[in-house]
Amino acid sequence: MDCKYFGKCGSCTLYDLNYEEQKQFKIDDMKKAFAAFGIKEFEWHSSKISHYRSRAEFMVYHDKDNISYAMHRLDKNGKLPIDKCPKTDEKIFDLMPELLAYIEKSDILRKNLFGVEFLSSKDEVLVVLLYHKKLDDIWTDAAKECAEEFRIKIIGRSRNIKISLSEDFVKERLHVEQKRYLYNIHEGSFSQPNRGVNEQMIGWIAKNISDTKRTDLLELYCGHGNFTIALSSLFGKVLATEISKSSIHAAKVNAALNGVENISFVRLSSEELTDALKSKREFKRLEGVDIFSYDFTHVLIDPPRAGLDEASREFVKRFPNIIYISCNPQTLERDLTDLTKTHKVVRFALFDQFPYTKHIESGVMLERL
Ligand SMILES: C[S@@+](CC[C@H](N)C(=O)[O-])C[C@H]1O[C@@H](n2cnc3c(N)ncnc32)[C@H](O)[C@@H]1O
Repeated sequence: MDCKYFGKCGSCTLYDLNYEEQKQFKIDDMKKAFAAFGIKEFEWHSSKISHYRSRAEFMVYHDKDNISYAMHRLDKNGKLPIDKCPKTDEKIFDLMPELLAYIEKSDILRKNLFGVEFLSSKDEVLVVLLYHKKLDDIWTDAAKECAEEFRIKIIGRSRNIKISLSEDFVKERLHVEQKRYLYNIHEGSFSQPNRGVNEQMIGWIAKNISDTKRTDLLELYCGHGNFTIALSSLFGKVLATEISKSSIHAAKVNAALNGVENISFVRLSSEELTDALKSKREFKRLEGVDIFSYDFTHVLIDPPRAGLDEASREFVKRFPNIIYISCNPQTLERDLTDLTKTHKVVRFALFDQFPYTKHIESGVMLERL
């Protein structure tokens, strides 16, 4: 990937290394961090080196009546105006300058605009325009014309206001191990940013899951069912939980889109689920779900950067197989230090979701000792 903002834009920190060198840098880093676990080799999963991001957000920089997108500068010295970003997928990349030129010419769309978020699927783009002003009918008419001009979905957001001109999601198709899955991916909820690497993550879990003999899967932090739906055919039943109401709603719709009927999606935080399964608390949200009827042999966890809290760590130790997807090597290292008191690491994969940055996603499979 080549970018005229390399060395200036704070988004790419490994801009002076080619892809092979970036890979080696990340592997060396992880070898050091996880030396105590005796990991000699990682299974490496590459990304496309450009146009890999299906979601991206930019600040908007105003200079009188001119606007540009902006990123934080690498030297942390304010904002860097940019016109496009080669990390974004081709549809977003092509749209960025044309959309900006259109917005710049419209007083209504331009004034008080402070951010633009893009979300794309293989076929669609959704744009969220963020404002420091009230959005009225005049804004709605102008935004509708813009949406028609570029054949995109537009959402306007300002404090406590959300105006959706059409659906607030994109329809995505993922291909995993010769199977096709459909997902509605919503603006405002978590989704994996790198489509190709996400397909590899789902495939890696599905391929390496030990023979389940149709036992049951428990998933915490399930989001919109990204892993759940593709893994459900390997298990008898699945209980999948997540804290976000909108993600659970999307997960139920996504299960129906794929004709999957053996998953119960329940809005519960990992802490609440732990309490429910220990019979410490009862939840109305679990009505109709007999959590004690499951024969869980596998637990799948994909927590936010903070990793697992102490109670959740203790809780997942009760399952024979733990599948841990992590976006933060530091909290993963802390959690594995504890989990390897009862389990051993049997696979460790690295998924390069963000080339040209130091970020790395990990997949770890553990079996009870
Ligand atoms: C890294 S995302 C993973 C989502 C999903 N596995 C995917 O691949 O799209 C983490 C998810 O955990 C959810 N979450 C955050 N804190 C949580 C908590 N305490 N309990 C349960 N879910 C939580 C977030 O809403 C988010 O959907």
